[in-house]
Order: sequence, then structure tokens, then C-alpha cells
Amino acid sequence: MADVTSGAVAVGSPVSQATYLKDYRPPDFFIDRTDLEFDLFNDKTTVNAHLTLRRNAAVDAAPDLILAGENLHLVSVAINNIIQPTDSYQVNHQQLVIASPPDQFILSIVTEIDPANNLSLEGLYLSDGMYCTQCEAQGFRRITYYLDRPDVLSVFTTKITADLGQYPVLLSNGNLDSQGLADDGRHWAKWIDPFKKPAYLFALVAGDLAMVEDSFTTVSGRQVALKIYVESKDLNKCDHAMQSLKNAMQWDEKVYGREYDLDLYMIVAVDFFNMGAMENKGLNIFNTSCVLANPLTQTDMAFQRVEAVVAHEYFHNWSGNRVTCRDWFQLSLKEGFTVFRDASFSADMNSATVKRVEDVSLLRSAQFAEDGGPMSHPIRPESYIEISNFYTLTIYEKGAEVIRMMHQFLGADKFRAGSDLYFDRHDGEAATCEDFIVAMENASGYDLGQFRRWYSQAGTPVLDAEGDWDQQRGCYTLKIQQSCPATPGQDQKLPFSMPVKVALVADSGLLAASCNSLSAQLLDGNEFLLSLTDSEQQWQFTGLSEKPVASLLRGFSAPVKLNFHYQPQDLLQLIDADNDGFIRWDASQRYALQLVQKHLTGEQMIDSAAGQQAVKALGLSLSQLLQQGLSGRGWDLSFDAALTAEIIRLPSYAYLIEQFDSVDIHAISEAIECLQISLSAQLKSVMVDCYQQLRQQLESLGEYQPLADHVALRSLKNTCLAFLLRSLDSSLLHLAETQFDLANNMTDQSSALSALVNCPLENAEAAAQQRVDRFYQQWSSESLVVNQWLTVQAASDKPGALGRVRALMDHEAYDNTNPNKVRALIAGFCMRNITQFHAQDGSGYELLSSEVIRLNTLNPQLASRLLSPLTQWQRFKTPQSELMQASLQRIADTENLSADVFEVVTKSLVAS
Ligand code: BES
Ligand code: ZN
Repeated sequence: MADVTSGAVAVGSPVSQATYLKDYRPPDFFIDRTDLEFDLFNDKTTVNAHLTLRRNAAVDAAPDLILAGENLHLVSVAINNIIQPTDSYQVNHQQLVIASPPDQFILSIVTEIDPANNLSLEGLYLSDGMYCTQCEAQGFRRITYYLDRPDVLSVFTTKITADLGQYPVLLSNGNLDSQGLADDGRHWAKWIDPFKKPAYLFALVAGDLAMVEDSFTTVSGRQVALKIYVESKDLNKCDHAMQSLKNAMQWDEKVYGREYDLDLYMIVAVDFFNMGAMENKGLNIFNTSCVLANPLTQTDMAFQRVEAVVAHEYFHNWSGNRVTCRDWFQLSLKEGFTVFRDASFSADMNSATVKRVEDVSLLRSAQFAEDGGPMSHPIRPESYIEISNFYTLTIYEKGAEVIRMMHQFLGADKFRAGSDLYFDRHDGEAATCEDFIVAMENASGYDLGQFRRWYSQAGTPVLDAEGDWDQQRGCYTLKIQQSCPATPGQDQKLPFSMPVKVALVADSGLLAASCNSLSAQLLDGNEFLLSLTDSEQQWQFTGLSEKPVASLLRGFSAPVKLNFHYQPQDLLQLIDADNDGFIRWDASQRYALQLVQKHLTGEQMIDSAAGQQAVKALGLSLSQLLQQGLSGRGWDLSFDAALTAEIIRLPSYAYLIEQFDSVDIHAISEAIECLQISLSAQLKSVMVDCYQQLRQQLESLGEYQPLADHVALRSLKNTCLAFLLRSLDSSLLHLAETQFDLANNMTDQSSALSALVNCPLENAEAAAQQRVDRFYQQWSSESLVVNQWLTVQAASDKPGALGRVRALMDHEAYDNTNPNKVRALIAGFCMRNITQFHAQDGSGYELLSSEVIRLNTLNPQLASRLLSPLTQWQRFKTPQSELMQASLQRIADTENLSADVFEVVTKSLVAS
């Protein structure tokens, strides 16, 4: 088998062992056809698989055929229609070995599985009484014995037989070939997928589903039927996903020249799902949270998420399905590239700057933490114990940043030529990251030799930059040093090649300058693209008329940490005068961070006179921003209200934690609170004006619409509201009460609820509780809204959150086997209620570790993902670090640890 072991570790049973990239070998056999028959019964499902096998002549193959299988009951094995005696094969809990089969033959395997009791949500399982599958990465082996690896591509046919009354809709990949009635009130459908695919893209759905239908005409004039399947009560929540799908199809034709290839594209929504969605060929399966959207029940954020996820899964039809991955070490080949593609799409559909700010914000807080923690790995990992653990922010988000850097170095046209070449060259094949890079090089003539280090070196590079101003010569010298900290298994790093976009900013805006270095390219509008390749480089910018402030890493041109000693007034200047929205946002974050840092070191307390001065300066700058919108007849829609909302928001805990080597979380929290109070005093009146004006303006725009401009206005309005309700002024309470009571959309209703629930005033408590109760009464039949309700309560930083969470775990609306519910409540508490999760007595960790242990056997993927906050234990001061470590140890000591949890826990405890 290709899974070569070394350093096997016994943990209960089965054995958890590592798989290495260096051990990759092509498959010993190919499967040209996979003909499947499913007989679905409530107590069991029978799977009859006919595999047309052919020995791989190109390799010196082992004589035996080894198929992967998990949790299967084997009924029979036949070769070329002849049932094999049981002594001609061997079967254990993870494989079926057929001794010395012929070079070409048809293998028929009958297995029985039990979807009704499959809570892991991998393979075939039931979601609210509806059959569905999840096969990526290695779920297909829970359906039948197979060469369950992405470099084995096969043509699939699927015949499904089930009760007609209970399961009127029967779906699989490709096109419907035929259907009919069977005995005992049953019926069947046969599907044929003409495109070769690996087993991880297989899908089956059977249930009582309603459907919304539309169509799309491709650029070459083919009609594609688009169908979204949901429970009938959700039919009124499909329009947005449908529109997003059509937009994505059109965008991929225009921007990448990619056309859809089947006559049918189906999306099915299921409520029990470990991830967001899955790109199965012709039959995407989505978490309800990523497809359903209705103004009354979903927020603007949810609308944007639906648009992004629908597009992401659609884009995989080329970047993932037509060209797939050779092995799972190449995961970023499809995921990083597809995230890059969906981010570009979202940027084109909405505010590009805000999309960038959101992505960078996630990267800098969560991905940087992963890169600096015990699970750190390159975007192309070298080994894994459980592949499910490697669907990480590093593979996805950093992977997308790496593609983005190539795009910047090559320019849009050459990048497109590279992508065309990649798709043409590898269509119908399983490719590697190296294949992608080579296609980019061949099409552009650009040498990506050194750039490849991004694929093999883990860790976040650090840039230490310094500027020197020579007034006499009108010359600014920029020096940049790069380094990268050691990560598990990689002590020494070589310098990376990366694009560093810079400009020089004065009060009036960007200054013209020249730079005669070969590694600097002047772009339009006084921007420079610097190519950083060495551990230290410097550039001289001449012809400057006045002393500039350096605007560095514009648009966040590379996924690195940038250290530069900005003076507070430099940051204010960037907030005011830079034309790069990302930089303006980043400058406001840096300014707030400096205040927090000085407060914590005692250098300058926020509530001291000097501290107040500094807060006032920031407040002035922010209030100018708000007033730009207030002047005239209300907010100009072209003025980016959503970016303003991002700029006035204080840095998140996740980002702040990243800035300290040793985190005293309660000291940080105290500093942030101090800053919050002080800043609200500065901004209160302008924010009230702003809030009122935005409210009126939105009213005048009429009915709710999730249009980017409207979203932007609501975002700023609700950011102001959240701010105001934390300002300790009880006369402002009514703003939130009224907004809640009159809301005609979920964005306004849930923002008001959240503002009330987080209001520190004592007299807010009754008002908040009353609305919490009313909210539940109003929405108890809408599962996704109830999830929001759980999260708002779990995330409230009012004292007693742990008790509230424990009480909600017993609530009728809670289901501890539904990942959406567990994420809403448990992850809502652990990841969004930072201060109480990190309570001094360790009670937050206790709750999390108990849940991880409970889920370990039921749903290992969910258990392992939930665990991630504890992996950061070394960043915290005592007592947190010791308590977190003890909780990890408690999990490690549990019997029958799944490979998923085992890998994360042991790697976290080893590193120190
Ligand atoms: N292929 C993945 C879904 C997946 C991930 C299945 C891990 C099995 C294991 C899908 O394309 C994906 O990446 N979905 C993301 C959303 C996307 C917008 C980044 C998800 O599910 O979170
Ligand atoms: Zn994906």
C-alpha cells in the first residue's frame, strides 16, 4: 500500500501511524470503472461494488491488491463473477487484501453498512432522516473497499434503490440515466458520471427534498440546469445561493476562461455536516448554514458567506475536480488556489478592500497562531497522522496568499496564461503543487525557483524594516531584514522571495519618487513593487519633496509579520492620507495596539493624562472619518462605510494575543476595556449622529436588500451601536431596544440583541433577558437562527457565561451530535468569549476538554477541531498555561483516542 509506516504508535486500537510525502508511490492498480448499487434500508444499507481493475504496468507492482476499508461488514467477494472462497483474501479493520489477482478483472464486493448509527458524518450517514455522503478525504472507504486515494480516477455509475414514500428523491453524481419502480413500495434511480474522478468526489443523496430550479447558458451556448435541494420549509431561502451560483459561473468564464461541463449542477443542503460544503462532481453537498439565506433569518455576514462558499465549491469543478490532487500532501493545490479564486470573486462582487481586511484579519490572528504553534506545517506538509487534521488555515489561507504572491509577481495576464496552461496540461489528471508552479513558470518565463520555499518551509516570516530620511538629498532609505522562526522539525530557514508593495505618504497623499534598484518596479500611482529575496536588502527613494511616512506591505502583499517603529503621528497620517484601505485599517490597529502595549508595560497608562491625549488623537482621527460620511446629505454610497466600520473597531483578542510572547489575558482585557471606555467618551456624540443618520438613510432605501452598499451602511450602523452600548451611558440603551423591537431583518435584530447582551450597565440586564427570551420564541423553529441565539449568549462577556453555556447544553434546542449546534455553543464560548474561556480557575478548559473527550469517539473530526484553542497553551502565562496543559494531558490519557485527537494532543504536548 502507498501508506508507508514508520514510527507507528499504538493508541488503543487502531494504531495511529504517520504517512510521509517522501514515500509516495503510484498506485499498483487502476480502476477504470466503478459501478455501484446501493440498497437503502432503515436498519442497514447494502453496497454492491463492481470495480473494473487493471494492473499498473508502469510500476513494479506488488502481486497483491490492497483495498482500504473502515467500519465495513464484508459479505462477499467475487472475481469475474465467481464468488471467491474466504481463504483467497484477508480482511482486517482497515483493509481487504486479495492475493495475486489477474492483471485485468472485475472485482465485485458486497458490503453492509449502518448509516443510521454513523455519527462521525464521514462516509454514508443520515442527516435529519436524509441519506447523504461525505467522502473527502478518506470517507469512501467507509462505503466499500477501494483504492481510496486521489490519484486513482474512475468513471462512476450509481444505482440507488430505496423506499419511494420516505426517500422520493435519489441523487448521485453526473446525469440521471434511468429510473423506475421496484418491489415493496421501493424505487430506483441510476446515475452516470462521464468524467473520471477520484472516490473522494463521490456523492449520494436520498431523502424527501424540495427543489428550486433555474438554468445557466454557458459561453458556448450550452444550457445547464441548476437545482438546489432543501427541506420544503426552506424553499424560501434559496434565491441568494442560486444567484451566487450563476454569478460564479459567469465570473469563472470571464476571469479564468472556465466553462461548466455537465448538463446539470445540483446543490443539496444538509443540517448535519462537519464542514461548510463539499464539491462532489455535479452534486455539491452543503451545510445548511452555507446555502440558506433569507433576510428575516440570516445576517448580511451569512449572505456573504453563502455567496463565497457557493462560488468556492463551484470553482473546484476546475481547480480540484477536472484537475485533482495526486495525493493529500498536495491539498493546497486545490484548496489554496480555490480560496484565492473565491476571494477574487468576492472582492469583485463586494467591497474589495473590506474583503481584504477580513481575510488578513483571519490570517494574522488564527493562521499566524497555527504557524507559530505545535501543529505548524508548510502549505505542502511532509507528513500527517490524520489527513483530516490538515484542512487548516495554513493549507487554505496561507495557501491562497502564496498564489496571490505569484499573481502579483507575474501580473494578471501572465498569471492567467499560467492557469490556462495548468488546466490544459493536466485536465483529467491528478497533479502536484510542483506541476502548478512549473505551468506558471513556463507560461510567464518567470523563475519561481526561490519562491518554491513557500511550499516547503513552515512558519511566518518576520520583516524588520527601518527607514532613514535625508532631508538634504530628499532621499528616503528603506532597509528590510527578513527571518523566520524555527518550527517543529525545521530549525533553520532560508530566505523567502516575496513581493513587498510600498509607497511614501505625506499629508497630501502618495509622493512621487524614483528608485533605481533592479528589485524595485514602479507601478501606477506612485506605488513600488519591491522584490525581497535576501535576508537583508535596501532601497533608496529619491526626488522626494518632503519627509514621508512609509506605507509598507500595501494590500498586505505578503503573509508576514512586519515590524516597523511607527510614531503615533505617523499612524494617524496613514489613517488620514493613505489611499490603500488595508493600510488605513492596519494603521488604526497598530495605533490601538501601541496604546495597549504601553498600558501593559506601565510606560503610559491609558487613563493617565498622556494616555488620554493619545486616545484623543486617535478619537479625533476616527471622528473625522465618521464625519466625512456625515457631511452633506448622508453617507455617500461610494464612500466605503464598511471600511470605516473596520477602522473604528478595536483590535480583536485573537490579534492582540498574537502580539505577545507571554500572554496575560486578563491584563490585556483590562487594557482593552480601559481603551473602550476612554474612546467611547471621545466618539459618543459623533457616533450617535452617525447611527441616526445611517438608520434614516437605510430606511429611505426601502426594503432590506443584501446589496454590498446596503451591507456597508448596516455594518457601520451596527458597529456604532455596539460601541455606544458599551459606553456606560444608560440613555443610549433605548437605541438597541428600539432597533431590536422594530427590526425587519436578522442583521439588525441580532446586532441589537448582541449589543444588549454585552451592555455592561446593570439596568440593561432585564431588557436584555427579555429580548433573549423573545428571540427564542420567535425563532425556535428556525435551526440556524437558534444557532445564532446560542452563540450570542455564549459569547457575551458578562460574568457567568460558563453557567449560561452549561444551562444551554440542556436546552431543548441543543443537540450535542449536530456540529452546527456544538460549534455555535461550545466553540462560540471557547473562541469568542476569550476572557471567560480563560478563567483563572480553569473551568473553561474543563468544559472544553470534557466535550472533546465526549466527541472523540462519536465525531473525531469535530472533536479535533474543537480542541484547537488548547494547542496555544505555551503562549499564555501561568496559571493559564499549566491549566491548559493539564486539560490536554487529561485528553491524552483517555482510552481509545481517535487518530484525529491523538495527533493534535500529542503534538501539542511534545513541543515545549
Ligand atoms: N473540499 C472542501 C470540503 C472538505 C474539507 C471536505 C475537509 C472534507 C474535509 C471544500 O471545498 C471546502 O474547502 N469548504 C470550506 C469552505 C470554503 C469556502 C473555504 C469549508 O467547508 O469550510
Ligand atoms: Zn475547497
